[in-house]
Amino acid sequence: AVFSTSEALSRHVAEIVAAIIRERQAQKATAVLGLPTGSTPMGVYRELVRMHRDEGLDFSNVITFNLDEYYGLKPDQLQSYHRTMHEVFFQHVNIPSENIHIPDGTIPLDEVDAYCDDYESKIRAAGGIDLMLLGIGSNGHIGFNEPFSIRNSRTRICTLDPITRRSAASDFFHEENVPHQAITMGIGTILEARKILLLALGQGKSTIIRETLQGPITNRVPATILQEHRDTSVFIDSAAASKL
Ligand code: GLP
Repeated sequence: AVFSTSEALSRHVAEIVAAIIRERQAQKATAVLGLPTGSTPMGVYRELVRMHRDEGLDFSNVITFNLDEYYGLKPDQLQSYHRTMHEVFFQHVNIPSENIHIPDGTIPLDEVDAYCDDYESKIRAAGGIDLMLLGIGSNGHIGFNEPFSIRNSRTRICTLDPITRRSAASDFFHEENVPHQAITMGIGTILEARKILLLALGQGKSTIIRETLQGPITNRVPATILQEHRDTSVFIDSAAASKL
């Protein structure tokens, strides 16, 4: 679906998230969400906060798993996804703190593999992801699954692509300060979500959106693998759709 403004897109996506939360509540079940960061989903989080405040949208049955985190950043550091998620979303809604999962970028290197296996076990123990929101990198990455990540990859530590580090340079005031590694859910982890919504905003994403939707499935562009998922919807603004 194509939206004329990012606000309209955010409202629509937030409605879908809210509908799943309410539906699961009516069944007295939990709603398990997979969540991205980056600038794209921020309007969705702001809209969900508004729905909590103005409409009483209840997050007490919500369990969240964030997609990724920079490796080496402390949770309270300015650029950490942990900090962003709390500031923009979690601290403004009634989600129980034990239901929030964000990869920890401070795990010592020799414990990372076990930590990532445990992250996967927690997703399974929660019953799997009901709804996964995704952004997309200009090189086609999803989470931090960079070009040539393998289809069956699971949560792991990975090396960031030079394009990704360049795109993040302004957040870190200089490219040199951007971490070289991250912890990310794998492509295999993402594909197991029951429903996926891929979001993209702006002209800068128009080329990669065309490749993702109309190009061949290739691990050179990880997002193209979503073409194989049976319930993925794509929500973009008219600028991101301009090359379709
Ligand atoms: C980062 C994140 C991705 C995100 C991408 C796009 O690299 N790890 O999960 O989708 O950036 O970011 P933006 O939405 O700011 O364009």
